[in-house]
Amino acid sequence: MTTKSTMTHLECGKCGATYAANQLINLCPVCSRPLLVRYDLAKAAQTMTKEALKSRPANLWRYEEVLPVQRRDAMIMLGEGWTPLISAGRLGAEIGCPNTLIKDESLNPTGSFKARGLALAVSRAYELGAKELAIPSAGNAAGAMSAYAAAVGLPAYVFMPKDVPATFQVECKVLGAQVTLVDGLINDCGARVREGAAKYGWFDVSTLKEPYRIEGKKTMGYELAEQMGWTLPDVIIYPTGGGTGLIGMWKAFDEMEQMGLIGSKRPRMVTVQAENCAPIVRAFQQEEEHAELWQGAKTIADGLRVPVAVGDFLILRALRASGGTAITVPDAAMLHYANVMGKQTGIFPAPEGAACLAAQVQLLEQGWIKPDETVVLFNTGSGLKYSHLWA
Ligand SMILES: Cc1ncc(COP(=O)(O)O)c(C=O)c1O
Ligand SMILES: [Zn+2]
Repeated sequence: MTTKSTMTHLECGKCGATYAANQLINLCPVCSRPLLVRYDLAKAAQTMTKEALKSRPANLWRYEEVLPVQRRDAMIMLGEGWTPLISAGRLGAEIGCPNTLIKDESLNPTGSFKARGLALAVSRAYELGAKELAIPSAGNAAGAMSAYAAAVGLPAYVFMPKDVPATFQVECKVLGAQVTLVDGLINDCGARVREGAAKYGWFDVSTLKEPYRIEGKKTMGYELAEQMGWTLPDVIIYPTGGGTGLIGMWKAFDEMEQMGLIGSKRPRMVTVQAENCAPIVRAFQQEEEHAELWQGAKTIADGLRVPVAVGDFLILRALRASGGTAITVPDAAMLHYANVMGKQTGIFPAPEGAACLAAQVQLLEQGWIKPDETVVLFNTGSGLKYSHLWA
């Protein structure tokens, strides 16, 4: 049985070269930058209507016309997506921005939004015949990849920095992955994956180094619009490591507009990074197109400990096109605002999610966000995996 996918081809985000989508592929063979999936959106719009969506399943596969999986048996499902958009009235009142909403991604399988990207990446890799999968990860992505690989019975190889909290390591092991701890950061782990891919034929599912994780992450944009009655907020605050979610949502907004689901208004996109690992913020401020590697990256937010991002130019493009900004927050503020969010909303956020609230408070103080604006924060993961931070 085939899906309603209207995927047509892949297109390089940098040089524009196009490729057939029926092959296992990583970065653009011409310029080594990320490949983006293209669809026949006019065709997708015929069946993926607002009305039709009302009776679709409460997971991300409800948007199957604009997802890449072709065979129904290759859709690996663990309950990913359709997370709640929580109206945080009490929190909003406390910080002076009553229309504050939280997209709570901690309810995804394996407790983070990484499930979205890996559900799609692993489903496609399986569909296209990959035999073994490998990933470099700061933590959450490894757990998600291990889960989807286990669900479909593919061997999984995980490379994580050796100081990653035990919970992340244990999760991967219980899910059957082969875990290697690396003396270095995620980019060093990436190098180990590339070696293994060359030597043993593993398929590399590093973020943005294959075309499909972004397709999973973009569903956050579709869900946000649908949950807000096909409107978008004034501001989206997103904790940015590799930036896949931000790039994905930006892509989703364009697709939705072309399908007639939303208009041309876009939210101002805000990247939040940690004070001691902020390559995108620095490049944004210096008006660069690419972000240089950040030396000595250090933060308690493992997902933000990403010193270099292959999709840097796509993140920076989206921030600028949206009239957005990029801002850093110190680790102490993440810990503090996790408590504030927890107490005022009932959500126990990952430090990355708490970073969004810390950034919102700073931007309100600066007058960059007006008190009457609608602001969506992404709590990208559960605080439970980081409970040692508050212990
Ligand atoms: C909880 C959490 N938030 C945010 C991020 C950063 O996500 P992205 O790579 O989409 O920028 C990560 C990545 O590991 C993460 O685990
Ligand atoms: Zn290219």
